[in-house]
This record gives sequence, structure tokens and C-alpha cells, in this order.
Amino acid sequence: MTRLCHQQDLAEGQVRGFDPEGRGQDSLLLVRHQGRLHAWRNACPHVDGAPLAWRRDAYLSADGRHIVCYAHGARFDIATGRCISGAALGQALSPLRLRIQNNGEVHLAPPHPQETNP
Ligand code: FES
Repeated sequence: MTRLCHQQDLAEGQVRGFDPEGRGQDSLLLVRHQGRLHAWRNACPHVDGAPLAWRRDAYLSADGRHIVCYAHGARFDIATGRCISGAALGQALSPLRLRIQNNGEVHLAPPHPQETNP
């Protein structure tokens, strides 16, 4: 499992990108929303998995209520990943599973077997 951070590193409403594979670009984002941590791939479903943010960690709308893709302005529900308006309507972000250990360390959990099938 890949360690991302400690759960206390993200306060309510905060979001942060991570590059666990060292690609030089964040491949996922972690956001705390209504007390829960959610992890999504940094890949917009509208156009070939385009990155969502226009600068580092700028994933949320100005009011902090939605994840926004800055390419064409699609807005996504933070908790479900579903697009609620804009160019990706009917599509959703890809979720990633987290495992939070007893000491509060947050790790990426392996995907379900059906998520790895083509
Ligand atoms: S690439 Fe994200 S809305 Fe178009």
C-alpha cells in the first residue's frame, strides 16, 4: 500500500494532490468533505482523463462545494464524484479506495479485482 499522508493533514474542506508514482504530475486528489476523506483520480472523464486543476491543489470551486475541471468547467460532487453540471454531465470521476490505519496514516488501498479488469 502507498502512504499518502496522515488524516490530520487535511482539515475540513481542504484538498491536496498526490503523485505517488513520481510522474511529475499529481495523479490523484484527496479531499476532506463533511468529515470524510475522498480520493479521486486526477482525470476528467470528459476528455481522455485530462488533469482537473489549473495549478497545484486548485481542485475546488471558489465556494469549496464542488470539484471543478478547469479545462471546460465541469463540476463534480465531492462525495459521489458525479458530474452535476458542465461538459462531463452523465459521467463521474474515478474513485480510489483508501485505508486509514489505526495510527491515522492514510494509504491507497489496492483496487477491487473488478476495477483492474479491462
Ligand atoms: S476536460 Fe474536463 S470538462 Fe472538459
